[in-house]
Amino acid sequence: MIHRFDTIDSTMHEAARLAEAGCPAGTAVVAAEQTAGRGRFGRRWHSEKGQGLYVSVVLRPDVAPADLPVVTLALGLSVRNAIAGVTGLACDLRWPNDVLIGEKKCAGVLAELHGGAVVAGIGINVNQREFPAEIAGIATSLRLAAGREHSLDHLLPALLARIDDGVRLLENAGRAAVLEQFAAASSYARGKRVIVGLAGGEVEGLTDGLDSSGFLLLRRDNGERTVILAGGVRPARPPCS
Ligand code: BTN
Repeated sequence: MIHRFDTIDSTMHEAARLAEAGCPAGTAVVAAEQTAGRGRFGRRWHSEKGQGLYVSVVLRPDVAPADLPVVTLALGLSVRNAIAGVTGLACDLRWPNDVLIGEKKCAGVLAELHGGAVVAGIGINVNQREFPAEIAGIATSLRLAAGREHSLDHLLPALLARIDDGVRLLENAGRAAVLEQFAAASSYARGKRVIVGLAGGEVEGLTDGLDSSGFLLLRRDNGERTVILAGGVRPARPPCS
């Protein structure tokens, strides 16, 4: 079932409420506008009315708790595949939850646990022609990338179908299959020089693949290998030689 709202604070809140009340898997909350849309690390998600897809889906994947980080990666693949199917645009994936066109972000994934369910929040910048100054340098939309508008009504069912595919891939083929597809779709998974923002500061190095739990491996310049469990990844300039 799809619950539609004209305006809501955040689709995450309503989906969490429904999840805690025991709604079936696949229940989706969609809003034309969010007044308090949020992203990872408590950041605001720009949710201009009618210009983007703002949706939270309640999932009840039949997987072990240890697989949950991989659910986020599977959702990124779902978003990428839905965008490709509807618009023909090829997106990159940046671990763990960013969907990019070139170096700019066109969509993000936020996965949270509520009432034993995964609430998968997905924001896709679809028809924005411009963004507020503070994110203009890092955000793009499918419209800006393709030079034409796209139908939210086509994108939503495609996204829900691809989310279903992603969950089934994880349930049936397992974690390794999702990690393989993510690594193949992501220019950030291996050999990319990045800076990772962590709670205690920043680390820089070359990405070195994903471990079997779905965490990002970073090879630092001193040769040390760091497992990134959570953090914001951004491209770094290569060191001068
Ligand atoms: C991120 O990239 O930090 C994640 C962004 C997730 C945004 C979506 S929009 C629909 C749902 N409702 C929210 O408040 N956030 C998610």
